[in-house]
Amino acid sequence: MGYTLFAPIPLLGRRAEVSHIDTLLTQPESRFVLVSGAVGMGKSKLLRECDSRAGRCGWMVAKGYEDEVLRVTHETNQVTFCRQLWCSLAATSTSTAVKTPNISIQVDQVLDRINAFVKVLVLIDGFHVSPEFSPWFKDVFLAALKHCRAPVLTMVADISAELTALETLADEQINLGPLDRAEVREYFLAIKELVAPPLKETEIETYVEQGSPHPDLLAGLLRLLPLAARSESVPAQECMRVKS
Ligand SMILES: Nc1ncnc2c1ncn2[C@@H]1O[C@H](COP(=O)(O)OP(=O)(O)OP(=O)(O)O)[C@@H](O)[C@H]1O
Ligand SMILES: [Mg+2]
Repeated sequence: MGYTLFAPIPLLGRRAEVSHIDTLLTQPESRFVLVSGAVGMGKSKLLRECDSRAGRCGWMVAKGYEDEVLRVTHETNQVTFCRQLWCSLAATSTSTAVKTPNISIQVDQVLDRINAFVKVLVLIDGFHVSPEFSPWFKDVFLAALKHCRAPVLTMVADISAELTALETLADEQINLGPLDRAEVREYFLAIKELVAPPLKETEIETYVEQGSPHPDLLAGLLRLLPLAARSESVPAQECMRVKS
C-alpha cells in the first residue's frame, strides 16, 4: 500500500496548553493572552491549533489577508492594523468591501465589525512592534476591546522579549518550553516517512537521546524537517503522507 495523500502534520504533545486553550474557548470572555517561547518552540503551531478548535466551537477567527495570520511588524501602524482586522472580519460576512485594502478604517469600525459576531478570536502571530504603534495598541485598541459587546479573546504570540511591553496587560501568559522526550519521539515518528531516506527507529532514538538535552537544536530540527519533507505538489504547507 503506497503513500499518496497529504495531510498537515498534527500538533504533537502540548496537552496541558491545548487543554487550557479548550477551557478558554468554552468560557467566552474578553481576555488577553500572551503566547511566548523561544524561536521554533511551536508558538505558531499552537495558534493554528487554537484557530481550528475555535472555528469548530463557533468563534469567528480574525486572520490576515487571504487566510494568512495577523502579524504586527515594524511597518504596522494603526491604519494598516485596523484595516487588516476589519477586512478579516468582513471576509465571512456578506459585505463586498472586503477586498478594498486601501480604505481608511477607524478603530470604532473594527469594534462594530466585532460586535456583529457572537464571539471573536483575534490571533496575532508575531509582534515586532514599532515605538509609535505600541502605545496605540495598548492604550487604544486593547482598551477599546473591553467595551465590545461580543467577547473577544486576543492572543499574541512571539518570543518573550517582544512581548515585554504587553505583560502587565495580559490576563495570562502561556510559555512554551521544549517538548519532552516522549513528545520529541512522537514528532520524529510522525515525520519519519517524509524525509528521504526515511528515518530509522535507531536514528530516531539517537536524536531523542542526544537532542532532548539541547532544546534549541531540537527547535531548529523541528523547523528544518518539514522543509525537507515539503512536497512539490503542496508547496505552501508542511505536509505528511498518510496511507491510502
Ligand atoms: N508540538 C508540535 N507538534 C508538531 N509540530 C510542531 C510542534 N512544535 C513545533 N512544530 C513544528 O516545528 C516547526 C517550528 O514551529 P513554529 O513555527 O510553530 O515555531 P515558532 O515558535 O512559531 O517559531 P518562531 O519563533 O520562528 O515564530 C514548524 O514546522 C511546526 O509545525
Ligand atoms: Mg512562529
